[in-house]
Amino acid sequence: MVFQTFDALPQDAKTSLILLGEDNYVAEGQSALTGEQFAHILALKLKPGKLEAIQTLTKDGIKTGFYALLPKELNYDKLEELTAEVAGRLRALKADAVHIALADDSIAALSGAFYKQLALMDDGFTHYKTTGIDPIDPEADKPEDDAWTPEFTLYLPETMDKKAEEKKAKQAQKLAEGIRIARRLVNEPANVMSPERLAKEASKLAKKHGFEIEVFDEKQIQDMGMEAFYSVAKGSDAPPRFMVMRYMNNKDTDEVLALVGKGLTYDSGGYALKPAAGMDTMFCDMGGAGAVIGAISALSMLKAKVNVVAIVAACENMISGHAYRNGDIIGSLAGKFIEVVNTDAEGRLTLADAITYAATVIKADKIIDIATLTGAVGVALGNQITGVVADDEDIWAAISAASEQSGDKVWRLPHFDHLAKSNKSERADIKNSGGRMAGTATAALFCRAFAFGVPWGHLDIAGTAYQDKASAKAPLGATGIGAEILTRAAMKLFD
Ligand code: BES
Ligand code: MN
Ligand code: ZN
Repeated sequence: MVFQTFDALPQDAKTSLILLGEDNYVAEGQSALTGEQFAHILALKLKPGKLEAIQTLTKDGIKTGFYALLPKELNYDKLEELTAEVAGRLRALKADAVHIALADDSIAALSGAFYKQLALMDDGFTHYKTTGIDPIDPEADKPEDDAWTPEFTLYLPETMDKKAEEKKAKQAQKLAEGIRIARRLVNEPANVMSPERLAKEASKLAKKHGFEIEVFDEKQIQDMGMEAFYSVAKGSDAPPRFMVMRYMNNKDTDEVLALVGKGLTYDSGGYALKPAAGMDTMFCDMGGAGAVIGAISALSMLKAKVNVVAIVAACENMISGHAYRNGDIIGSLAGKFIEVVNTDAEGRLTLADAITYAATVIKADKIIDIATLTGAVGVALGNQITGVVADDEDIWAAISAASEQSGDKVWRLPHFDHLAKSNKSERADIKNSGGRMAGTATAALFCRAFAFGVPWGHLDIAGTAYQDKASAKAPLGATGIGAEILTRAAMKLFD
């Protein structure tokens, strides 16, 4: 992304996008638009929020100018809709250099969001689409390379500070990269993204972005006493991995924030087997892991003044002669016995040990966990709102403020004491499902039972981590939800 002043906009740009506020509409002389551009705007009869294009044949080929009026009450949703449409149109043109002129500063309050959307425009999962399969020349049979990365040049009006906007754009690109990391990890199918592979990818990212990582194998997981986590893992032939990532960059405090991400690389349901219709997307069940790995990568890129430890207990929930059963009673790192009433409520068992580790080994001062935990959250809030449960007002405030800046919607669900009673077991200390009623809150409170009283927050992203068709926010597949919220929330908690 290159920044220029508005008057530097080249008149012969092949592909340009002009955004102006409603107030400047037909106000020639107030902004730096040329006569030709004004003629276009008048001819196009722009309606707020709608993108219009005008193509002209010049001696150097076809010139495409996109024009849009930013609505007066511009908000995140409207901006996303507009940029999604811009992305679609530019992709269809296969534009490689795009000149974007902001005719006035009506985008100012959301310019960071706009730069982030520009940085996310090319992000679709095309890894396994082959084109031109040639049986004679296998070399030609390569994954489609349509990673579309146009170069954007932005032209700013005098009323916007170029330096400040450049800074915002740099931050936006790092936040976007965190989101892309999460999407890439989650989009890979379970036959590729095993627990081992996830640990390898996290290690690569640690090296690249400069955070530390420790990976524990199957034997170490058992030796540490993580019986709840291991009970879920042991049904699979793919060995589990426990990852602890550290980015300790705030020397002024010894306060530590732990981010714990659910890392089920696949969830078949186990003996409480899922029906096929609900199983095929269960490679997305490490969306929480993707989010915390994306967040710690972004925090490192941003050189954020935080002390963050990201934790992932990665495994697969499968069926075999050595899988755990409905009715088993298992131990846990916390020393509590858990009655497994449903092998499909596996995420909270893996989180239980990871949260205990955060509280007792890391001795974290605050814990936020994030998980594709319950179908119930989708029933309650749909697929565009993440459910949050928190027993600490500072953590809730940080998550809520972060989500407003990231344009993600969150809604708080309750944590009343009586809800935790649903998890009471007759046969052991606690059971792993409190039943259908208030399923998201009771699952969250199961997790809290392993936080040892450490201030805690919880994001249930089961409804928002994966989408089976593209939206204005993200392409089909993993949304990368949580990476930006957690990055921003961590920075707020250390502010
Ligand atoms: N991974 C699922 C939750 C999920 C559902 C994620 C839909 C993404 C989309 C979780 O492990 C699960 O199976 N939860 C059960 C809990 C129940 C058995 C108490 C559920 O929600 O049905
Ligand atoms: Mn499950
Ligand atoms: Zn699951």
